[in-house]
Amino acid sequence: MDTKLVVADFEDWRDAVAEAMTVLEAGEVVALPTETVYGLAADAFNAEAVAKVFEVKERPSFDPLIVHIGHKRDLDIVAEVPEELEDVVDDLIAAHWPGPLTLVLPKKADVPDLVTSGLGTVAVRLSDHEVMRAVAKEIPIAAPSANRFGRISPTSAQAVIEELGGKIPLVIDGGACRDGLESTIVAPEMTDKGPILRLLRPGPIPKEELRQIAKVVKPKRTKEDHIEAPGQVESHYAPTKPLILVDKPEDFVPEEGVKYGLLSYRGEGKSSLMEATEWAHIEVMSPGKGKLAEGAVRLFYCLRSLDAAEVDVIVSESVSETGIGVAIMDRLRRAAAGSA
Ligand code: TXA
Ligand code: MG
Repeated sequence: MDTKLVVADFEDWRDAVAEAMTVLEAGEVVALPTETVYGLAADAFNAEAVAKVFEVKERPSFDPLIVHIGHKRDLDIVAEVPEELEDVVDDLIAAHWPGPLTLVLPKKADVPDLVTSGLGTVAVRLSDHEVMRAVAKEIPIAAPSANRFGRISPTSAQAVIEELGGKIPLVIDGGACRDGLESTIVAPEMTDKGPILRLLRPGPIPKEELRQIAKVVKPKRTKEDHIEAPGQVESHYAPTKPLILVDKPEDFVPEEGVKYGLLSYRGEGKSSLMEATEWAHIEVMSPGKGKLAEGAVRLFYCLRSLDAAEVDVIVSESVSETGIGVAIMDRLRRAAAGSA
């Protein structure tokens, strides 16, 4: 299959949206930009189209998808907000939609089971990217990240082509993703002491901001020790090369004859690994002033570059676990766990 690449004009993205709609209405899949990462989109209410998303991604069907809506009021189309959660959901939406926050809520009966992997809940978000929002205004869109299962999420149209080129008919290029990490996922719940937010996946909206709305707690663990967001069980975001996450510089002891690539946070500083060995390739997450937000935006891009470079092993520095640093370290730990 030839994969067509259409650039969404910043002034007027209507042509690109129209092309995407034609493909979606025919029951096919299309890669669309969002402010977090690129998504592989299908009509959420067309189970056959949704099945193609799983097939193209080689994603197991027990891992549910996020549904993207185009207006706040469309939440009703896919989710059932329990009366007791109305206030906390309103607050979350008022503060963070459109934006990188996904809410897990009881689902409407007619959302196909394939979208939610048979769960009674659905994950919903309202993206802040014009292209995804314009498309989702037409029909709710089921879209996971546009990478092969378990691999690094794409933050540019080029990265989507690397992942899925030849397997999908259309990619809409909406530029580099603003946030660079997948949305924060929370499941609001009511307790005797008031509402709580279960943080199922850390992301661009940090805990510190969620706490202003309600108490933030960890995901529940089931008997099998599987956590609640099914996708979070998997080792994700994995480069094809082994990745070692180093906490303190003295913990890294290079071996003779191994070509190492470095993922450095700032590219300098006393806790940096820059001088630890003769690196075959170096990528710096935040070459500016060492800002976590910049690190988040560049993380997946840097991992892809290191994966493509002539190195045997990728070594990554750690970042501080505050704000979006929590999400960066979450992705790095998963990359380390899932790499070859
Ligand atoms: O930023 C994002 O969220 C991107 C863009 C494309 O919107 N999407 C994304 O989708 O990251 P995906 O499929 O790669 O990750 C969705 C996560 C998975 O970990 C999945 O298990 C979880 O959301 N999820 C989906 N529905 C759920 C549900 N009903 N309950 C708990 N977790 C759910
Ligand atoms: Mg993903």
